[in-house]
Amino acid sequence: MKLTTILWSLLVMTSLLISACYYDVEEELYPSGTCDTANMSFSQDVMPIFNQNCNICHSASAAQGNVILDTYDAVLPYVNNGKLLGSIRHQGGFSAMPQGQPQLSTCTIDKIAAWITDGAMNN
Ligand code: HEC
Repeated sequence: MKLTTILWSLLVMTSLLISACYYDVEEELYPSGTCDTANMSFSQDVMPIFNQNCNICHSASAAQGNVILDTYDAVLPYVNNGKLLGSIRHQGGFSAMPQGQPQLSTCTIDKIAAWITDGAMNN
């Protein structure tokens, strides 16, 4: 084999390895099947997400954009008008949230979506 061929193979193999590692990391973060979205509770699962990621801007005292997400009654209108999911999924026509920060993890978004699919209950 020519030296250049060997070098090229090495280069290809290295880049394959690097991309394999990249995907491994994503799978480690969100392996399929380990995101438990069963029986989501507003108080136990959903509210802590808002408190951690949103309510520095969306508590009653901050209320940026007039959006308040610190009680069930305040959150419900944004469930019903689609803005909550639209914004955290970064869908067109909605402001991407959390503003100025990376998108929530897929698992976190799935948990909120599952709570909504289950009827968005005050549980
Ligand atoms: C750094 C401050 C900040 C954070 C953190 C933040 N928001 Fe917002 N949010 C805003 C501002 C300002 C607006 C109003 C202006 C706009 O729509 O861009 C807004 C608007 C919204 C709207 C209305 C969107 C629309 O299209 O009308 C929703 C729903 C919302 N935020 C949900 C959230 C959720 C859920 C989180 C957490 C995952 C979050 N926000 C985190 C600042 C923030």
